[in-house]
Amino acid sequence: MFPSSVNTVFELACGEDRSSEKWFEENVSVFAMDVDLERLRRFRGRYNFACGKGEQLPFADESFDFVFSRLAIPYMDIPVMLKEVHRVLKLGGTVWFSLHDIRYALRKIGSDALRFHFPSVVYQLYTIANGISLHTLGKLYRYNGYTGSVQTVSGMAKVLTRSGFTDIKFGGDGEKILAMSAEKIRFPDSPLLPRLCL
Ligand SMILES: C[S@@+](CC[C@H](N)C(=O)[O-])C[C@H]1O[C@@H](n2cnc3c(N)ncnc32)[C@H](O)[C@@H]1O
Repeated sequence: MFPSSVNTVFELACGEDRSSEKWFEENVSVFAMDVDLERLRRFRGRYNFACGKGEQLPFADESFDFVFSRLAIPYMDIPVMLKEVHRVLKLGGTVWFSLHDIRYALRKIGSDALRFHFPSVVYQLYTIANGISLHTLGKLYRYNGYTGSVQTVSGMAKVLTRSGFTDIKFGGDGEKILAMSAEKIRFPDSPLLPRLCL
Protein backbone atom coordinates (compact mmCIF):
# COMPACT_ATOMS: atom_id res chain seq x y z
CA MET A 1 0.00 0.00 0.00
CA PHE A 2 3.04 2.34 0.28
CA PRO A 3 4.21 4.09 -2.92
CA SER A 4 7.61 2.92 -4.16
CA SER A 5 9.11 6.24 -5.23
CA VAL A 6 8.45 9.56 -3.47
CA ASN A 7 10.41 12.78 -2.93
CA THR A 8 8.41 14.59 -0.25
CA VAL A 9 6.67 12.80 2.63
CA PHE A 10 4.61 13.96 5.60
CA GLU A 11 4.09 11.76 8.69
CA LEU A 12 1.05 13.03 10.55
CA ALA A 13 0.90 12.48 14.33
CA CYS A 14 4.28 10.76 14.54
CA GLY A 15 4.30 10.61 18.37
CA GLU A 16 7.76 9.51 19.48
CA ASP A 17 8.04 6.44 17.26
CA ARG A 18 10.87 6.87 14.74
CA SER A 19 10.55 3.47 13.11
CA SER A 20 9.37 5.02 9.82
CA GLU A 21 12.85 6.52 9.28
CA LYS A 22 14.14 3.31 7.73
CA TRP A 23 11.28 3.20 5.19
CA PHE A 24 12.60 6.12 3.16
CA GLU A 25 15.90 6.74 1.39
CA GLU A 26 18.19 9.46 2.83
CA ASN A 27 17.42 11.78 -0.09
CA VAL A 28 13.65 11.76 0.61
CA SER A 29 12.51 14.90 2.42
CA VAL A 30 10.31 13.88 5.37
CA PHE A 31 8.27 16.22 7.57
CA ALA A 32 6.87 14.86 10.83
CA MET A 33 4.19 16.56 12.93
CA ASP A 34 2.38 15.92 16.19
CA VAL A 35 0.12 18.00 18.41
CA ASP A 36 2.15 16.96 21.49
CA LEU A 37 5.40 18.92 21.76
CA GLU A 38 6.87 16.61 24.43
CA ARG A 39 6.49 13.57 22.18
CA LEU A 40 8.06 15.49 19.29
CA ARG A 41 11.07 16.37 21.49
CA ARG A 42 11.59 12.66 22.21
CA PHE A 43 11.17 11.80 18.51
CA ARG A 44 14.11 13.83 17.08
CA GLY A 45 15.88 11.90 14.26
CA ARG A 46 16.61 13.18 10.78
CA TYR A 47 13.13 14.48 9.94
CA ASN A 48 11.98 18.09 9.80
CA PHE A 49 9.40 18.86 12.49
CA ALA A 50 6.31 20.91 13.08
CA CYS A 51 4.01 20.96 16.09
CA GLY A 52 0.32 21.24 15.23
CA LYS A 53 -3.04 19.63 14.64
CA GLY A 54 -3.92 17.38 11.74
CA GLU A 55 -7.04 19.49 11.23
CA GLN A 56 -4.99 22.64 10.50
CA LEU A 57 -1.76 21.89 8.66
CA PRO A 58 0.98 24.53 8.51
CA PHE A 59 2.05 23.69 4.95
CA ALA A 60 1.53 25.25 1.52
CA ASP A 61 -0.86 23.66 -0.97
CA GLU A 62 0.55 20.69 -2.91
CA SER A 63 3.66 20.22 -0.76
CA PHE A 64 3.85 16.40 -0.50
CA ASP A 65 3.83 13.25 -2.65
CA PHE A 66 2.80 11.02 0.23
CA VAL A 67 1.08 11.55 3.61
CA PHE A 68 0.77 8.77 6.19
CA SER A 69 -0.34 8.35 9.78
CA ARG A 70 -0.19 5.38 12.12
CA LEU A 71 -2.60 4.80 15.04
CA ALA A 72 -3.62 8.45 15.15
CA ILE A 73 -6.44 9.48 12.82
CA PRO A 74 -8.99 7.79 15.16
CA TYR A 75 -8.24 10.77 17.51
CA MET A 76 -8.90 13.45 14.88
CA ASP A 77 -11.84 15.11 13.18
CA ILE A 78 -11.31 12.93 10.10
CA PRO A 79 -13.40 14.87 7.53
CA VAL A 80 -11.65 18.15 8.47
CA MET A 81 -8.21 16.49 8.52
CA LEU A 82 -8.82 14.87 5.11
CA LYS A 83 -9.60 18.24 3.53
CA GLU A 84 -6.32 19.58 4.89
CA VAL A 85 -4.34 16.52 3.79
CA HIS A 86 -5.93 16.76 0.36
CA ARG A 87 -4.87 20.43 0.17
CA VAL A 88 -1.20 19.74 1.00
CA LEU A 89 -0.93 16.70 -1.32
CA LYS A 90 0.27 17.10 -4.88
CA LEU A 91 -2.11 16.00 -7.63
CA GLY A 92 -1.85 12.21 -7.87
CA GLY A 93 -0.23 12.08 -4.41
CA THR A 94 -1.25 9.26 -2.06
CA VAL A 95 -2.21 8.72 1.58
CA TRP A 96 -1.93 5.75 3.92
CA PHE A 97 -3.67 5.59 7.32
CA SER A 98 -4.17 2.92 9.94
CA LEU A 99 -7.67 2.81 11.42
CA HIS A 100 -9.55 1.50 14.46
CA ASP A 101 -12.44 -0.76 13.62
CA ILE A 102 -15.25 -1.42 16.11
CA ARG A 103 -13.48 -4.49 17.55
CA TYR A 104 -10.79 -2.19 18.94
CA ALA A 105 -13.38 -0.22 20.95
CA LEU A 106 -15.22 -3.38 22.09
CA ARG A 107 -11.99 -4.95 23.37
CA LYS A 108 -11.10 -1.72 25.21
CA ILE A 109 -14.57 -1.60 26.78
CA GLY A 110 -14.13 -5.19 27.99
CA SER A 111 -10.69 -4.63 29.52
CA ASP A 112 -11.52 -1.19 30.99
CA ALA A 113 -14.78 -2.43 32.54
CA LEU A 114 -12.88 -5.27 34.26
CA ARG A 115 -10.56 -2.62 35.78
CA PHE A 116 -13.54 -0.39 36.76
CA HIS A 117 -12.14 2.32 34.50
CA PHE A 118 -15.52 3.75 33.61
CA PRO A 119 -14.53 7.15 32.06
CA SER A 120 -12.61 5.16 29.43
CA VAL A 121 -15.63 2.88 28.87
CA VAL A 122 -17.78 6.00 28.29
CA TYR A 123 -15.17 7.39 25.88
CA GLN A 124 -15.14 4.12 23.89
CA LEU A 125 -18.95 4.13 23.71
CA TYR A 126 -18.68 7.68 22.36
CA THR A 127 -16.17 6.53 19.69
CA ILE A 128 -18.64 3.85 18.59
CA ALA A 129 -21.51 6.39 18.38
CA ASN A 130 -19.23 8.72 16.42
CA GLY A 131 -18.26 5.81 14.15
CA ILE A 132 -21.95 5.28 13.38
CA SER A 133 -22.22 9.00 12.57
CA LEU A 134 -19.16 8.78 10.27
CA HIS A 135 -20.62 5.69 8.62
CA THR A 136 -24.07 7.18 8.00
CA LEU A 137 -23.58 10.96 7.77
CA GLY A 138 -19.86 11.33 7.12
CA LYS A 139 -19.58 13.61 10.19
CA LEU A 140 -17.86 13.48 13.59
CA TYR A 141 -18.84 15.22 16.84
CA ARG A 142 -16.68 16.42 19.73
CA TYR A 143 -17.11 15.14 23.28
CA ASN A 144 -15.50 16.69 26.34
CA GLY A 145 -13.00 18.61 24.18
CA TYR A 146 -11.92 15.54 22.18
CA THR A 147 -12.80 13.99 18.84
CA GLY A 148 -12.56 10.21 18.61
CA SER A 149 -14.12 7.51 16.49
CA VAL A 150 -13.96 4.00 15.16
CA GLN A 151 -14.06 3.74 11.38
CA THR A 152 -15.90 1.56 8.90
CA VAL A 153 -14.86 0.90 5.32
CA SER A 154 -18.04 2.53 4.04
CA GLY A 155 -17.72 5.62 6.32
CA MET A 156 -14.11 6.18 5.29
CA ALA A 157 -14.91 5.64 1.61
CA LYS A 158 -17.66 8.26 1.91
CA VAL A 159 -15.50 10.99 3.49
CA LEU A 160 -12.50 10.22 1.26
CA THR A 161 -14.62 10.48 -1.88
CA ARG A 162 -16.17 13.74 -0.66
CA SER A 163 -12.69 15.14 0.00
CA GLY A 164 -11.49 14.41 -3.55
CA PHE A 165 -9.72 11.04 -3.18
CA THR A 166 -9.95 8.09 -5.53
CA ASP A 167 -8.49 4.56 -5.87
CA ILE A 168 -9.42 3.85 -2.22
CA LYS A 169 -8.11 0.50 -0.95
CA PHE A 170 -8.57 -1.17 2.43
CA GLY A 171 -6.48 -3.85 4.09
CA GLY A 172 -5.13 -4.89 7.46
CA ASP A 173 -3.71 -7.77 9.41
CA GLY A 174 -7.06 -9.51 9.57
CA GLU A 175 -7.16 -8.98 13.32
CA LYS A 176 -7.22 -5.53 14.89
CA ILE A 177 -5.88 -2.84 12.57
CA LEU A 178 -7.51 -1.91 9.34
CA ALA A 179 -5.41 0.20 7.02
CA MET A 180 -6.26 2.16 3.90
CA SER A 181 -4.66 4.00 1.04
CA ALA A 182 -6.06 6.48 -1.50
CA GLU A 183 -4.93 8.83 -4.23
CA LYS A 184 -5.69 12.52 -4.72
CA ILE A 185 -7.73 12.89 -7.92
CA ARG A 186 -5.37 13.95 -10.70
CA PHE A 187 -7.86 15.94 -12.76
CA PRO A 188 -9.84 18.11 -10.31
CA ASP A 189 -11.32 20.29 -13.03
CA SER A 190 -13.27 17.43 -14.59
CA PRO A 191 -16.95 18.45 -15.05
CA LEU A 192 -17.93 15.06 -13.56
CA LEU A 193 -16.27 15.81 -10.22
CA PRO A 194 -19.05 17.75 -8.46
CA ARG A 195 -21.46 14.87 -9.21
CA LEU A 196 -19.02 12.23 -7.96
CA CYS A 197 -18.35 14.14 -4.75
CA LEU A 198 -21.99 14.57 -3.68
C1 LIG B 1 -1.36 6.34 19.65
S1 LIG B 1 -0.27 7.68 19.27
C2 LIG B 1 0.51 7.09 17.79
C3 LIG B 1 1.84 7.75 17.56
C4 LIG B 1 2.68 7.18 16.39
N1 LIG B 1 2.06 7.47 15.12
C5 LIG B 1 2.94 5.71 16.56
O1 LIG B 1 2.59 4.93 15.66
O2 LIG B 1 3.49 5.32 17.60
C6 LIG B 1 -1.37 8.95 18.68
C7 LIG B 1 -0.67 10.25 18.39
O3 LIG B 1 -1.59 11.15 17.76
C8 LIG B 1 -1.33 12.45 18.23
N2 LIG B 1 -2.54 13.23 17.97
C9 LIG B 1 -3.76 13.06 18.51
N3 LIG B 1 -4.63 13.94 18.01
C10 LIG B 1 -3.95 14.69 17.11
C11 LIG B 1 -4.29 15.77 16.23
N4 LIG B 1 -5.53 16.26 16.20
N5 LIG B 1 -3.33 16.28 15.44
C12 LIG B 1 -2.06 15.80 15.46
N6 LIG B 1 -1.67 14.78 16.27
C13 LIG B 1 -2.60 14.23 17.08
C14 LIG B 1 -0.99 12.25 19.71
O4 LIG B 1 -0.27 13.34 20.25
C15 LIG B 1 -0.15 10.98 19.63
O5 LIG B 1 1.22 11.26 19.47
